[in-house]
Amino acid sequence: MDRIFSGVQPTGDLHLGNYLGALKNWVRLQHDYDCLYCVVDLHAITVWQDPGELASNTREVTAGLIAAGLDPADNIIFNQSQVAEHAELAWIFNCIARLGWLNRMTQFKEKAGKNRENASVGLYAYPNLMAADILLYKATHVPVGEDQKQHLELARDIAQKFNGDYGVELFPLPEPLILGAAARIMSLRDGSAKMSKSDVSENSRINMTDDADAIARKLRRAKTDPEALPADIDGLEGRPEAANLLGIYSALADRPFEDVVADQAGRQFSEFKESLTELAVAVLAPIGAEMARLISDPGYLDGVLADGAERASNIARPIIDEVFDTMGILNLRARRSP
Ligand code: TYM
Repeated sequence: MDRIFSGVQPTGDLHLGNYLGALKNWVRLQHDYDCLYCVVDLHAITVWQDPGELASNTREVTAGLIAAGLDPADNIIFNQSQVAEHAELAWIFNCIARLGWLNRMTQFKEKAGKNRENASVGLYAYPNLMAADILLYKATHVPVGEDQKQHLELARDIAQKFNGDYGVELFPLPEPLILGAAARIMSLRDGSAKMSKSDVSENSRINMTDDADAIARKLRRAKTDPEALPADIDGLEGRPEAANLLGIYSALADRPFEDVVADQAGRQFSEFKESLTELAVAVLAPIGAEMARLISDPGYLDGVLADGAERASNIARPIIDEVFDTMGILNLRARRSP
């Protein structure tokens, strides 16, 4: 069976972009592939994380994955730091990837901002760790939002260069799965900026733990334009906020974008926002309630993650051994006592 790997950072609240762009697809795909879903704490620390919050954020994101519908018995759910092979393979990939490749990564440029000299080395090498995450399991498919596309191209380049340098077919070239209208959910305050955890405005995003009042308030304040909703998709040209809200509706309702645009044609934003709020509350409130229930049981969540780490290690270790053998690294693990 083909294998999926995907990850999410424990850097704060999960938001609607994470849910519609990633988690919802993970839930849909979980029975058709052999799946690993990872809470990537080693990626999170490429920027400062409060030690008092990292562990609870890791549990909270784990709760989000399960509440969204991932079955921890069927899927391997774990936190990255607990499978040390991620860091081992990332180092090897630091020696495979070229500086020129990393210099092209737009997400580093965005995250490092003007003060590039002061960014951590980890933030710069982040895409190599991400390639290691995927290739450590020889994953064939990676469901992500649009913003991760360039990182996946780099993972493919690394796999190809490793295979070419050593004359092997060790790593498959992983395929991105970037699905549907929700692959890029935009900020509620600015239709040209991605919905993101790092946006300073809480009103820019809907969090998965938001209650009905918060969802209603944020959608009421969501930026719009003065026109009614257009008759067809062509009429969304130059209207990014309208396109975004209709895209969110279509993803939440699981209905084709064209059909939603046709249904809402001619309505005023005020009316449409009411329907959207009703739909968002109906979808998100049960997930938020289940998250709260799971978060109150950290022992259960830790058990899921420990079990996942064990199962992930069992897949990763033989693959790292294969990498060491290919590279001529003297591997004495089998001779050491367990
Ligand atoms: P992260 O934690 O930023 O986001 C997790 C997932 O949510 C998607 N996403 C969005 N999708 C649509 N619209 C948005 N506004 C939006 N914001 C976030 C992301 O595309 C992602 O799929 N580098 C990754 C984590 C990672 C990973 C991996 C992913 C680490 N190793 C290996 C796949 C494979 C990240 O920072 O995602």
